[in-house]
Amino acid sequence: MSVINQQDQSRARKQQGADAPDAFLRETLEARKRAGLARKLRQLRGAPGPRVTLNGRDVLLLCSNNYLGLAADPRMKEAAQQAINKYGCGATGSRLISGNLEPYQELEHALALFKATEAALVFSSGYQTNLGTVSALVNERDAIFSDELNHASLIDGSRLSRAEINVYRHCDPSDLEQKLASRASARRKLILTESVFSMDGDLAPLRDIAFLAKKYNALLMVDEAHATGVFGPTGAGLVEALGIRDQVHVQMGTFSKALASLGGYVAGSKELIDYLLQHARSFIFTTGLPPSVLAASQAALEIVRNEPQRREALWRNVHQLRSGLERLGFDAGPEQSQIIPLRIGDSRLTMAACRLLLKDGIFAQGIRPPTVPPGTARLRLAPMATHTADDLQDALAAFAKLYSALQARKATPPHRLPLQPASVAVSGER
Ligand SMILES: Cc1ncc(COP(=O)(O)O)c(C=O)c1O
Repeated sequence: MSVINQQDQSRARKQQGADAPDAFLRETLEARKRAGLARKLRQLRGAPGPRVTLNGRDVLLLCSNNYLGLAADPRMKEAAQQAINKYGCGATGSRLISGNLEPYQELEHALALFKATEAALVFSSGYQTNLGTVSALVNERDAIFSDELNHASLIDGSRLSRAEINVYRHCDPSDLEQKLASRASARRKLILTESVFSMDGDLAPLRDIAFLAKKYNALLMVDEAHATGVFGPTGAGLVEALGIRDQVHVQMGTFSKALASLGGYVAGSKELIDYLLQHARSFIFTTGLPPSVLAASQAALEIVRNEPQRREALWRNVHQLRSGLERLGFDAGPEQSQIIPLRIGDSRLTMAACRLLLKDGIFAQGIRPPTVPPGTARLRLAPMATHTADDLQDALAAFAKLYSALQARKATPPHRLPLQPASVAVSGER
């Protein structure tokens, strides 16, 4: 006899409308679409280089974190292939349970040398590194001091820790100091900042922050996700470039940006690394990375250290693109890093600008809230070391058209414009 009776069936029928337990899925998705905030995956074919095939079209890629153009480097591919031949495809379990593969030891050793720290620990992603590290270092008896534009992974790690979160104004040491002074009695204090901010491309005032960390006896954790490979004489990051390695307790980074592989890491003292090994849950309760990924990361470290000409090429390209945009009339902000934020403001208009550029074969993804604060949607541009001067000239020709369209939009009734934000279907993943 069926356990579902007639009453159950009629209740289930009733719940198919707005009462259904999953009705919120459609409602939320529709609301996001209406607000111009729906995310969508775009199909990418082939190896990621300066040009890619996107939704079947050849386009110039201007929004990748593959800053040094290493993602399809033959040496990284060869290292990964050799690791597969030697070790197979998967790590088969948590590093603490199934055994720690040799490539992990080699990579952590190379990473500690690169960062000039006593030790290093590799996590399965940068996101997991921040989640596990922040939540291991502090708890409800402690206070976190976090830049208001910090990455979601730092925010999520902070929430998970249950420490009191004090958000200070972006890159503002005096606001940070005020907050540190007001929480002087907290058991532990942890300052969190990115060094190169991922969506604005500006640099944290690290020397001032390090000074305050010392003054208020706080731990300092710096996320070098977008600085590693790009800043410093050997590419170790902004902490290296500023010569403040001994003032930063936790140097965090990821292999997924300039190093064009996968996996996050922390570099620091032996005690810090041993502590995280015991306490960082996102390290303990997950499977290790495949050996091929570790070998590719190690090859990338070598290249980054030994080929400063890649950084030189990147800065040349950043300068060409940024100065070209400014000549066209765009405000690209001060030149601080490889990330160029072209703020448009309105989310729909930003995605319309993205589509207009795509028509001319330029892929510059629109970034919208909640990735960036409301009203600050933007095209986040990031040239690569492997773009040619001609590539960037092509891009600038497309940006010239975009600039005219944006100007025309300010002066003309909306229905006559090439940029009609409200009438176009929304797409894009950020
Ligand atoms: C500043 C920052 N920290 C951490 C991460 C997370 O790194 P991953 O992509 O390796 O998980 C990112 C990347 O999105 C980032 O931009």
